[in-house]
Amino acid sequence: MKKYIMALDQGTTSSRCILFNREGKICSMAQKEFTQYFPKPGWVEHDPMEIWSSQISVATEAMSRIGVASREIGAIGITNQRETTIVWDKATGEPVYPAIVWQCRRTADIIEELKADGFDRLILEKTGLIPDAYFSGSKVKWILDHVEGARERAQKGELLFGTVDTWLIWKLTQGAVHVTDYTNASRTMLFDIHNLAWDKEILERLDIPECMLPQVKPSSCIYGYTDESVLQGGIPIAGAAGDQQAALFGQCCLEKGDVKNTYGTGCFLLMNTGEQAVRSRNGLLTTIAASFSDKVQYALEGSVFVAGAAIQWLRDDLEMLRNAGESEKYCLSVENSNDIYVVPAFTGLGAPYWDQYARGVVVGITRGTGKAHLIRATVESLAYQVHDVIKAMEQDAGVPLNSLKVDGGACANNFLMQFQSDILNARVERPQCIETTALGAAYLAGIAVGFWKDREEIRKYWALEHAFAPDMDEEKRSGLLKGWKKAVRCSFDWARD
Ligand code: G3P
Repeated sequence: MKKYIMALDQGTTSSRCILFNREGKICSMAQKEFTQYFPKPGWVEHDPMEIWSSQISVATEAMSRIGVASREIGAIGITNQRETTIVWDKATGEPVYPAIVWQCRRTADIIEELKADGFDRLILEKTGLIPDAYFSGSKVKWILDHVEGARERAQKGELLFGTVDTWLIWKLTQGAVHVTDYTNASRTMLFDIHNLAWDKEILERLDIPECMLPQVKPSSCIYGYTDESVLQGGIPIAGAAGDQQAALFGQCCLEKGDVKNTYGTGCFLLMNTGEQAVRSRNGLLTTIAASFSDKVQYALEGSVFVAGAAIQWLRDDLEMLRNAGESEKYCLSVENSNDIYVVPAFTGLGAPYWDQYARGVVVGITRGTGKAHLIRATVESLAYQVHDVIKAMEQDAGVPLNSLKVDGGACANNFLMQFQSDILNARVERPQCIETTALGAAYLAGIAVGFWKDREEIRKYWALEHAFAPDMDEEKRSGLLKGWKKAVRCSFDWARD
């Protein structure tokens, strides 16, 4: 009897595994943070082997915590940090270079070259993406350009490329399956989101051989089975989606116009636009939402690169917090941020500004600025960034947003959620299960194997935990936003030569 669906949630800073039961409830969970490498300013890398070992160890841990055997698991759904790029040897499984993480800025020059001769317009038209070092395309090119012999080996079919979903599926099947899903493919900057195919013109321009790319499939289907040597059984791997698209699904944002925001390492706001690929005029991306067949749904996305990562910075680098949760206490210990603003543009600015050269700033410091003010201003920066993205989305959609569904770690912070509601002047809805990324991946896998019937069934499991209503007068709101806009301008272009 199949009792559980396993979600593997491979995020930017940790690998997690959650086992869900038939009611979509969490039965067991295990999590492990892994090493972040910052070899140069603006560069971010992971060790692909540590991604794999941490992921498989949490899977085993989650199973043993409640004594689950692999035969009780109906399917595995994978969700992952998107865009992060891995290239490995097909025969040995050895990565030829560390994983270049989505946040890494090393390929800004490659993007500048594409922009210089107008190729960025073609990329935007075909991929729905505003060319940026964020996406996988320039990262694959960088590896092929810089690792000796890599391009020749790739041309001979000896090397494979994958985003993290692809890497995990390849490892879980011991090299039998080289595949990705439409959501992840749509973040590579190499995929034509209208024709649903790798784009030959872009591949040629970046000099990337097509034979190293995975086969692309819907987000809910059986890709393969785990090899007996991992997890002691052949479990179907039946769901895969980039973490933000998985969260959109897990939040049951299944209809056109539904919006969610995830407060993770970054903040990612997605609006389901149904079968129409809407082109933004305000700095948002067009991307593919989790789909069950080759008839895909699309979404508009506002990507903010640094959100929870700023709290992690307060904790790990400035050593101002013992844990992220403590930030709420500091925020509430002061009446306001004492007119200081933190713009955490550590890896440039994403939507709606798209400035590869922006860097972080703290402005307005006086002799009266204290630790709690700095912490509060950092937490507030998450809400301001989300505000800016929502304004862009409202302009694209032509309608104001009445409410926002939230999830991700930082949405547990009640101060932040209230401030978010105040600054947006809109209702913020937090569901009972805030692990919606993992839940979305589980739903996709579970539906593929018949564990759940369909989208209608899972809709029943979404339940509200708390709604935050706006409680700030217009004068205060517009004053705070004016200061924020001024602060953002200070961060622009800082790292440009
Ligand atoms: O696009 C990057 C995104 O997928 C990373 O998500 O949750 O690891 O911040 P997260």
